Amino acid sequence: MKKDLLKLMDLSREEILKILDTADELKQKQKNNIPHELLRGKALGMIFQKSSTRTRVSFEVGMFQLGGHALFLSTSDLQMGRGESIKDTARVLSRYCDGIMIRTYGQYEVEELAKYASVPVINGLTDFAHPCQVLADLMTVRERFGRLEGLKLCYIGDGNNMANSLIVGGLKCGMHVSVATPPDYKPDSKVLEFAKNHKGSDFLLTDDIFEAARGADVLVTDVWASMGQEGEAEKRRLAFAGYRIDKALLKTAGKNAIVLHCLPAHKGEEITEDVFEEQAQVIFDEAENRLHAQKAVMVLLMG
Ligand code: CP
Ligand code: NVA
Repeated sequence: MKKDLLKLMDLSREEILKILDTADELKQKQKNNIPHELLRGKALGMIFQKSSTRTRVSFEVGMFQLGGHALFLSTSDLQMGRGESIKDTARVLSRYCDGIMIRTYGQYEVEELAKYASVPVINGLTDFAHPCQVLADLMTVRERFGRLEGLKLCYIGDGNNMANSLIVGGLKCGMHVSVATPPDYKPDSKVLEFAKNHKGSDFLLTDDIFEAARGADVLVTDVWASMGQEGEAEKRRLAFAGYRIDKALLKTAGKNAIVLHCLPAHKGEEITEDVFEEQAQVIFDEAENRLHAQKAVMVLLMG
């Protein structure tokens, strides 16, 4: 049966670790100029309903390095933009492509695409989840600390797609996870339910950023207004004032704490410019690791 990457909730801890191990191997090969054309002759269709810099470029370059080809398909150019159904699009693209990546709004759209596609489907971000980003984040943390289990991951800000995927990915890998959001901007209830039932590492949800950050090894944040929420930006700026990673919060975290940000960043909002620049090395390692983590996903699903 074909396999998809729709959300981290669907993956076992072993499957996540297998992706991370494969990503490390592929990164080494790339750095040492060792050819690894594991998807020679294969094609990835990339449907974009929202903007992207990292996701688009890292999938396209990743596919090239694997000996395959990626097609950028904006929904404003596809017949999908004129009403062709996801169901039919899935069945058509499956006749040409060996895999489909999609970035869109509703998680149900990705699930629908996967249901009718006969080739693997990869979630390149929905309002609910950003699994590829969090795989790259976990890879980056493991590179820095040599392990994931027992580390404390703290997320500050909006209970959005990044928060949802970090909670699931972090807990599945044995990390302790703490999250601070304003009361009206909590993570998805299905994710909170998952966290409540999780055993083996701790989960904390609070509205107090200092309580969440205390002793953390990894601090993560994301924009206050995600793609599609531009109209709420002003309201959100008020609600999230104070939900920011700055020097004082970083001091509350562990001595060797690192800061991650999926980017793009709104400096002065969710993260201060000084913290961002101090942590730039690891933040751009994180961006680079999108390439390696996604190559691993494609090799494991499409190889
Ligand atoms: N982090 C991330 O997904 O970036 P893009 O929106 O640029 O793809
Ligand atoms: N939460 C952000 C992530 C961007 C990569 C958004 O959905 O816009």
